[in-house]
Amino acid sequence: MNRAIVFPKSGRIKYLFLALAACFVIVFTIASYAWLHPWHDVGLSVPFQSFFFSKSTSGVVSTAWNESLAFGEVLYISMPYRTDRQDAMDLLSSMSGIKLTLIEGVSGDDINAKAVPDNADLKPSVLGCWRAHADAWRYVIDNNLETALILEDDIDWDKNIHQIFQDLSVQMQNNKLRLDPPTDHERTSAPYGLDWDILLMGQCLDMANPQRLDLVQVYDDPNVPSRKDTQEVFLKQMEDLGVAGDDVGKKRLLSPAYGPACTMGYAVTRRGAQRLLLNLSYMGLRGPVDNDMAWTLQDGKIRGYTVTPPLFTAWRVGGQKDSDNVTPDQNQPIVGKGNKGGTSRNLKSSARIAMVKELEMHNWVDYNNRGTVEEQKEKGKS
Ligand SMILES: *[C@@H]1O[C@H](CO)[C@@H](O)[C@H](O)[C@H]1NC(C)=O
Ligand SMILES: *[C@@H]1O[C@H](CO)[C@@H](O)[C@H](O)[C@H]1NC(C)=O
Repeated sequence: MNRAIVFPKSGRIKYLFLALAACFVIVFTIASYAWLHPWHDVGLSVPFQSFFFSKSTSGVVSTAWNESLAFGEVLYISMPYRTDRQDAMDLLSSMSGIKLTLIEGVSGDDINAKAVPDNADLKPSVLGCWRAHADAWRYVIDNNLETALILEDDIDWDKNIHQIFQDLSVQMQNNKLRLDPPTDHERTSAPYGLDWDILLMGQCLDMANPQRLDLVQVYDDPNVPSRKDTQEVFLKQMEDLGVAGDDVGKKRLLSPAYGPACTMGYAVTRRGAQRLLLNLSYMGLRGPVDNDMAWTLQDGKIRGYTVTPPLFTAWRVGGQKDSDNVTPDQNQPIVGKGNKGGTSRNLKSSARIAMVKELEMHNWVDYNNRGTVEEQKEKGKS
C-alpha cells in the first residue's frame, strides 16, 4: 500500500493524530475562506475574522464590521405611509449587513401649535421634518446610546460601507483635529471617539470655516468616488481644504463641520443629542432643521466633523416620489424613472446597484445549461 504518512502503531495515538490533523484542516479551510470573503457574505461573526486577521491597528476600529457600523444603533426616519421606501431600506440594509431601527416621520399638520418651538415660523412640512429628527435625538437619549447614526429613507451608500467606516474609525482614533487627547474609554470602546456632538456624512454640501482652513485631516480611502462621480460642491470644498489634482479620487477629508445642508446621514453622540434638543427645540428653532444645525455649528454651540465626499447620498427616482416634505408638484408624475432607472452620486460602487446584481438569477437558463434529466443520466454513465 502506498501511504504518504506512516501512523504510529498504537491505535489511540493514531486517532489523536487524525483528530489533530482534521482540526487543522478545518481551521485552515475556514480561516482561508473568511480571509477571501467579506464576513457578511460568509455569515461569520466579526470577532472571528478580526481574531484571525485584524486589519486594523486596534480592535476597536474593526467593530465597524458589526450590524450598526460601530455606532450604538442605526436609526432611519421614514413617513409611516412610505412603505415603498421602507421596503427599499430593509433590502439595502440587509444586503449590507446593517440593522436599522425605524423612527416614524411626522406630518407637520399633526404638531399642536403649543408644541412648536418658540418663535418658529415655519411651514408644516418643514416643522414635520424637524420633529422627526428631534424624535431621533430623544431616542438616543432615552435608550442611553453613546452614539447613533441617523439616516433618512431615500439614500444610497457604497457596497464597501463597512470597510469605509473602518477606515474612518482609524482616522477618528487618530484624530488630529480634536482638542483633548482621547480617554482610555474612547480608545478601547468608542470607535469614532466621543469628542463631537455631530458627525456629518450625508450632507448635500458643506462649507469649511474660511478662517480655519488649516483644520483638516486628509486620508487615503480606496473607496472614494472618482472626480467625475463627485459633485462640484464637494470638489470645491476639497480644493478649499487643499485636496486637488491627482488626490481627487484617492483621498477623503475630515474637517470641522461649519455650513452643512441636508440631513441624509449623520451621527450624534448622546451629548450631541442633548445639545441639539437644547438649541433646536428648548431654546427655539430658527429655521429648517439643517439650517439651524449649520447656524448652531457656526455659533460654536455644538461641535461637529464633516466627512467629504459624503458617505450617504440621495437615491433619485424622479417624479413626486423624491420628496415627502415639499408639497408635491402636481404637474409631475408620481412615478418618474422609478427605482430601476434611479441614480445616486458621490459613490464609487452604489450598494443599490450592487444589490440588484447580487440578487439577480436566471433559473431556467441554469436548468437549460444543465440539460434534461435524460442527458444527466447519460453523463452519469459515461
Ligand atoms: C457595534 O459596535 C459598537 C461599538 O463598539 C457597539 O456600541 C454596538 O453595540 C455594536 N453593535 C452591535 C449590533 O453589536
Ligand atoms: C444655544 O444654546 C446655548 C446654550 O448652550 C445658548 O447660549 C444659545 O443662545 C442657544 N442658541 C440659540 C440660537 O438659541
